[in-house]
Formats: sequence, C-alpha cells, structure tokens
Amino acid sequence: MLAAVLVLAASTAGAAPPGGDRQAALLYLLRQDCGSCHGATMGGGLAPPLLPHSLAETPDDALIAAILDGRPGTPMPPWRFEISPDEAAWMVRQLKGGLAE
Ligand code: HEC
Repeated sequence: MLAAVLVLAASTAGAAPPGGDRQAALLYLLRQDCGSCHGATMGGGLAPPLLPHSLAETPDDALIAAILDGRPGTPMPPWRFEISPDEAAWMVRQLKGGLAE
C-alpha cells in the first residue's frame, strides 16, 4: 500500500528521473530523431552540434527550454508533448556529459 502511494506521488509530481526503460527510449530518440538534424553522434549536421564543449557555455535552463519549446523561427521543433521537463533536464545532463556509449 505504501509503495503504491509513493509510486503514485512520484508519477503525479513528475519529479522522478526517468526509469531505465524510459532512459533507453530517450537515448534512442536522441540518436534517431534529434540525430537526424544534430547528427547521429551529436556532432552537428543540419543543426548545430550538441557536444559537451558546444553546450558548456549555455545554461541548462536555456537548453531545456529549447528542447521543450523549440526555437521559434528555426527548424528546432518543440518536444513538450513527447518529453517532460524532468526528462529534458536528464537529456541535457546526458548531452553535457557526452552521451555515455
Ligand atoms: C528538424 C531539425 C531538428 C530536430 C529534429 C531537432 N533539432 Fe534541436 N535544433 C535544431 C536547430 C536548427 C537548432 C538551432 C536553433 C537556433 O538557431 O537557435 C537546434 C537547437 C537545439 C538546442 C540548443 C543548442 C544550443 O547550443 O543552444 C538543443 C539543446 C537541441 N536543439 C536539442 C534537440 C533535441 C534533444 C532534439 C530531439 C528531441 C532535437 N534538438 C531535435 C534543429 C533540430
């Protein structure tokens, strides 16, 4: 009973980092969908690179906002309907850490 309440609380608050399956799905999304513009290894292509040294100067909040809301006037689309704010924050940490292979 207590476990069920905790799970419910975590999912409604949305504060939990993504679980293992979701992490794998987000990494797949990064390489496939994001990679179609940013390059499969995030080295850039149609869109700028998302490598640690390219992102180091940009605050996490700005990167998270770019993922959630896109960059209006550029090809960067919003992902808010597929990616939660916590998931976007997790993705930014992965990108800044260099996407552990
Ligand atoms: C249709 C092409 C396209 C796709 C798909 C795409 N992006 Fe982008 N993205 C761009 C472009 C173009 C920019 C540069 C926008 C600008 O000029 O500010 C950008 C910018 C960004 C930035 C800001 C980089 C910075 O240095 O400020 C981040 C972070 C980012 N994208 C992450 C993602 C993620 C994560 C995904 C997948 C969920 C994704 N993008 C999918 C085109 C794309």
